[in-house]
Amino acid sequence: MDDHSLGDGAPGFRARAGWTREQAARIERTDETVGPIVYPPESDQIPHLHIWDTWFLRNRDGTLAEVDGYRVCFSLTAPSDLLPGKRHDVASVRCFYSADGRNWHDGGPVFEDALGQRQWAGSALYDDGSVYLFYTAAGEEGAEDLTYSQRIVGAGGGTVDTSEGFALRGPWTHHELLRPDGDRYEREDQSRAMIYTFRDPWFFEDPQTGETWLLFEANSPVPEGSDVCDGDAAQQGYNGSVGIARSPTGDPLSWELEDPLLDAVGVNQELERPHIVYKDDLYYLFVSSHLHTFAPGLEGYDALYGFVAEELRGDYVPLNESGLVVTNPENAPFQSYSWMAFPHDDEVLVQSFFNYFDFAGETLDEIAHLPESEQMRRFGGTLGPTLRLDVQGTETRIIGKLGHWHVPMAGEELPPTERELIRRARTDE
Ligand code: FRU
Repeated sequence: MDDHSLGDGAPGFRARAGWTREQAARIERTDETVGPIVYPPESDQIPHLHIWDTWFLRNRDGTLAEVDGYRVCFSLTAPSDLLPGKRHDVASVRCFYSADGRNWHDGGPVFEDALGQRQWAGSALYDDGSVYLFYTAAGEEGAEDLTYSQRIVGAGGGTVDTSEGFALRGPWTHHELLRPDGDRYEREDQSRAMIYTFRDPWFFEDPQTGETWLLFEANSPVPEGSDVCDGDAAQQGYNGSVGIARSPTGDPLSWELEDPLLDAVGVNQELERPHIVYKDDLYYLFVSSHLHTFAPGLEGYDALYGFVAEELRGDYVPLNESGLVVTNPENAPFQSYSWMAFPHDDEVLVQSFFNYFDFAGETLDEIAHLPESEQMRRFGGTLGPTLRLDVQGTETRIIGKLGHWHVPMAGEELPPTERELIRRARTDE
């Protein structure tokens, strides 16, 4: 076995890629997985907007792109005078750019003519000077009422112009790429859950095979009367999966659905924003999920969960035995969400948005019923601090944090972690 092989004895190993109830039952906060308390930033960089799910412009090999010295990211946004709970109904994608990875500027709305009634999360690819944006079209454009259908869309035609500062320009063409097929991926009319999912496309080129993939959040259909979960219909309604499609030619705008990469039937309803970090020849698959989307009998948190395998389609083993990688402190359980891991040198960095803070032990439901001024006061709606993660084999631990919105530039050396400072002080003695 080489250093990075997971071996058959790894905790939770099983023949089929799935997150089992047995594994998820081990979810527990630990020093390695609980992030620090987040405080509001001294000044909000983008005060006129609520900002939540965020993704970076990346190269085909998964590294963060730097275009003529600019880091570029995309976020779901809504006007900041809107009640936080209403933001999903009007979400639109904006672009932000930074020349130092710390100070970010609003590059404006990306599209004038996007598909869907509003846009939900996605990913962005910088390929040969062109920008491709993958997003979720939520609701059918033209429909009078708000609907919850979800389709995966790819927009091509973007270019970055830095002749006078930074500008992202179209014209964009929008291509509907994928809809659930009802067989591998559940359609809305088959769903027995509170909300079905078919969203959050994320581009991935496999460094081992060179093949081109699109991951997404989905649900696995469980026919009525099925004997999975011992036939327990209540558990069967929780059927999250990580979906995947392949582009046979590598064309970012042409995809074919394949079987899910991993599912969580009987465990969790929403495996959100799936993405992979390839490190030490291993595939680290991450998803965000919520406390309230775990199946009856299981207790999880709003958290980043992760799995690792030796091949893209391998037998994923949950990280830290349960899958829990990063969560919020017990007294601030909803302060961060929608984590996105990315590589930087030997570390994995994790960015997320600053969600609801200042808790008095309420649930999210209770917060939604607070007076409007209170809801506004307690919503971050901006990017939180970037966490630093040490990832070794099947184990991870949080080793430090960078500031709100700090996304280091390529090659930027990170400050020593507290542990590192202690170690150095010891060896100086
Ligand atoms: C996660 C999420 C995504 C979705 C977006 C909608 O925060 O639920 O799955 O794309 O929010 O606002």
